[in-house]
Amino acid sequence: MKKILFIASEAVPFIKTGGLADVVGSLPKELDKRYFDCRVILPYYSCMAQKWKDMLQYKTNFYMDFNWRSNYVGIFECEYEGIKFYFIDNQDYFTCDRPYAGMPYDIGRFSFFSKAALSILPTIGFRPDVIHCHDWQTGLVPVYLNVNFQDNEFYRGIKTVMTIHNLKFQGVWDIKTIRDVTGLPDYVFTSDKLEFNKDADMLKGGLVYANAITTVSRSYAEEIKMPYYGEGLDGLMRARSGDLRGIVNGIDYTDWNPATDKYIYQNYDPRTFRKEKVKNKTALQKDMGLTEDPDAMLIGIVSRLTDQKGFDLIAYVMDEMCQDAVQFIVLGTGEERYENMFRHFAWKYGGKVSAQIYYSNEISHKIYAGSDAFLMPSQFEPCGLSQLIALRYGTLPIVRETGGLRDTVYPYNEFEGTGTGFSFTNYNAHEMMGTVRYAEQVYYDKPHEWNKMVDRAMAEDFSWHKSALQYQELYDWLIG
Ligand code: ADP
Ligand code: GLC
Repeated sequence: MKKILFIASEAVPFIKTGGLADVVGSLPKELDKRYFDCRVILPYYSCMAQKWKDMLQYKTNFYMDFNWRSNYVGIFECEYEGIKFYFIDNQDYFTCDRPYAGMPYDIGRFSFFSKAALSILPTIGFRPDVIHCHDWQTGLVPVYLNVNFQDNEFYRGIKTVMTIHNLKFQGVWDIKTIRDVTGLPDYVFTSDKLEFNKDADMLKGGLVYANAITTVSRSYAEEIKMPYYGEGLDGLMRARSGDLRGIVNGIDYTDWNPATDKYIYQNYDPRTFRKEKVKNKTALQKDMGLTEDPDAMLIGIVSRLTDQKGFDLIAYVMDEMCQDAVQFIVLGTGEERYENMFRHFAWKYGGKVSAQIYYSNEISHKIYAGSDAFLMPSQFEPCGLSQLIALRYGTLPIVRETGGLRDTVYPYNEFEGTGTGFSFTNYNAHEMMGTVRYAEQVYYDKPHEWNKMVDRAMAEDFSWHKSALQYQELYDWLIG
């Protein structure tokens, strides 16, 4: 049995802020259980829902040196859908009302977490063959493993994988602080290791020390070797290109299934969507303050409201787009200016624009099912799960051709009768609007073509199956 350990800052169902949680929550289940024993370590955040906290069992505790003192490390555990999860408890670090506290607090919280996650392994009796780390919060795991844990036989020979879900966030702070907090030796703070523009970069540490690097789509794996997407690490990405692969994310096909989804108003499948899907739209329109009209094209957005997702493009042309015969429904939280922007448009175009500024899994399901199209004009997108969910629900994505969006949405070609959505190339508001209008045209003037596109979208397979095999191959290759 090969032993794989995920270390991450979020995982469904326990705690989620974005797609990272979906991936960490679903990929372990998809590995072939006959050959892989995959477990997960998360922080014990006080802000986890009580329902999940009640499921966790206290196991034991010990003390660990970190940040010039001896720190309590509590271990909780539980099994969920066949996967063992461990939680690292220390109230000084993980008492919170949301998982991320911002910089510089998160430096201390997640370096503590990374070191503690390694430290608990002998106690829980799990010696992984491969440790799979996710994003900057766990960047120090490969570093600590190489620098602090090699004296102990138990840790020798453990391989590491670092997965980049988003290169924009790297955990950068001044060297002095990071050296002090982490206790790492001077020699790791050089430009070939953690140093980055005179600061220390936790993700870079992971990328230098990990045995293999992956990111969440093929296109993004190529893009981050270039300055525009490389966030200053494109040189390192080029240098390590032999160890870097892009493996596209999947989605959980049980959670996201319009035929069985408990949250949506009316279930449907590829055979019945022509009649049934629209019932989701009218019910949603009714509940969310939109004009009830089965014929009006409804465009959905479910997203973190940040620059990454292209909201400045929307801001620029929203007034113009609202002159058309379309409706918009937005579910999201994030930067205040975008939250207020959507509130403003909802006020200005009552009945046409609905702004749901909060987080709700249930409402997200209703929007994926009830919308006709899904808008995601991202500036960059390592993978993107929302467009995959939209495809599964026969809701045609309108996307910018970048990263995972480019790899998973095939643009409509009216001459060949191919495609599963609509896309544009340049990060330009009018190009986006042109594409939205093209989609409107097809929707209103060629409903037959539109439905054929929905057929194709729903026939795509973005379950984990293929990608899980690629991760297994990678683990096999590392273990040798
Ligand atoms: P990212 O990880 O960059 O935020 P992804 O597309 O990979 O983008 O994943 C986003 C996930 O978070 C999707 O499952 C999406 O449905 C969900 N999501 C985002 N915002 C909300 C919200 N306000 N309410 C419910 N789910 C949300
Ligand atoms: C990040 C990316 C997103 C990706 C997700 C899961 O949050 O922004 O594109 O789908 O991680 O890998």
